[in-house]
Amino acid sequence: MLVLGLETSCDETGVALYDSERGLLADALFSQIDLHRAYGGVVPELASRDHVKRMLPLIRQVLAEADCAATEIDAIAYTAGPGLVGALLVGASCAQALAFAWDIPALGVHHMEGHLLAPMLEEQPPQFPFVALLVSGGHTQLVQVDGIGQYALLGETLDDAAGEAFDKTAKLIGLNYPGGPEIARLAKQGVAGRFTFPRPMCDRPGLDFSFSGLKTFALNTWQQCRSAGDDGDQTRCDISLAFEQAVVDTLTYKCRRALKQTGLKRLVIAGGVSANQSLRQGLEKMLGELGGNVYYARPQFCTDNGAMIAYAGCQRLLAGQQETLAISVQARWPMEQLPPL
Ligand code: KG4
Ligand code: ZN
Repeated sequence: MLVLGLETSCDETGVALYDSERGLLADALFSQIDLHRAYGGVVPELASRDHVKRMLPLIRQVLAEADCAATEIDAIAYTAGPGLVGALLVGASCAQALAFAWDIPALGVHHMEGHLLAPMLEEQPPQFPFVALLVSGGHTQLVQVDGIGQYALLGETLDDAAGEAFDKTAKLIGLNYPGGPEIARLAKQGVAGRFTFPRPMCDRPGLDFSFSGLKTFALNTWQQCRSAGDDGDQTRCDISLAFEQAVVDTLTYKCRRALKQTGLKRLVIAGGVSANQSLRQGLEKMLGELGGNVYYARPQFCTDNGAMIAYAGCQRLLAGQQETLAISVQARWPMEQLPPL
C-alpha cells in the first residue's frame, strides 16, 4: 500500500510517500522557522497561510523524487491533531480534497502517535512492548506501549513541556527561536559546575514532570549575572549547559523509574527533544547499566515531518481503518483514546 503523508500541525509542512512493501520512498519538509523567528515563537495565522502555499509544491516534489504518478497512491494520511487548529485544517482539507478527487481513502493521524512510531522507520526498529518518552514542544509523557493504539499513560508534565522549557529559557537569555537546538549548541561551550540547577520532582514518587521552575531558575541566574556585569556569551553557554544537564538528568531519572516499574528494558524516545545529543547519551548510559536498549529516529524524523504520519497512517489503513469525507481536526486529543489495531 502506497500512502501519501501530510503533516501541518505547527510550523513545518511535511510531506512523504511511504510504501508498506518498499519502505519510505521520498520525504520533503518546509520549515517556517525564518517566518516566525522575528516574533520569538509561532504565529498561528502566519503558519496556516504558509502551509497553504507550500503543500501542493511539496506533494509534487515527493512524487517526482519517488518517480511516482499520483494515480499510484492508494491512500492519504494527514495529521488530525493535536496542534494548531488553523494549521491542522490546511492539511486535513488538502488530504480530503485529494482523496475525493482521486477516489481513495483518507485517514486522520494522531501527531504524537506519529512521533512515537517514527523510530520504526530506522534499520533496527524497537519490538513491542516498550516504554516511550515523548518529548516535544507541546508534550512530555511517559507511556507504556504494548502495540499500536495500546497506550497506557505512566506520567506527564504538570506544566511546561520539555521542548517548551528549552524554548522559553532560550528566549529569557536572549537566544533565537526555536531554543532547543540553540541551547544544545551553546551548551557544548559551557563550563560544567559553574551553575547547578535543580532536578524537579525527582525527590517525589511517581512519574510526572514539572519544568516551569527551571525556566525561572535560569532567569534568576541570568539576572544575577547581569547585575554583576557578567552577561557575555560565556555566561549564556554556562547557563545553557546547566539547564540542559538538569533536563537530561530529570528525564533520565524518570525513565529509569518507568522501566523499573514496568519491568521493561526497551526505551523509545521521540519528538523534537529526542534529537538532543546529551539526552541520547544520558539514556544510552542508563540503559547500558540496565542491560537494555534505547531507540530513536534520525534527527530529521525526531522533529515534525511527513514520514512519521505516512508510516503511522499506513499501519492503521492496512488494518482497515477509514473515515468519512468530513473535515475534522482536534487541538487537544489524548493518545489513549486511539483505538488499538
Ligand atoms: O516534535 P517537535 O518538532 O514539535 C512538536 O510537536 O512540538 O518538537 C519541537 C521542540 C521545540 O521545543 C524545540 O526547541 C525542541 O523540540 N528541540 C530540541 C532540539 N531540537 C528540537 N530540544 C533540545 N535539543 C535539541 N537538539
Ligand atoms: Zn511534533
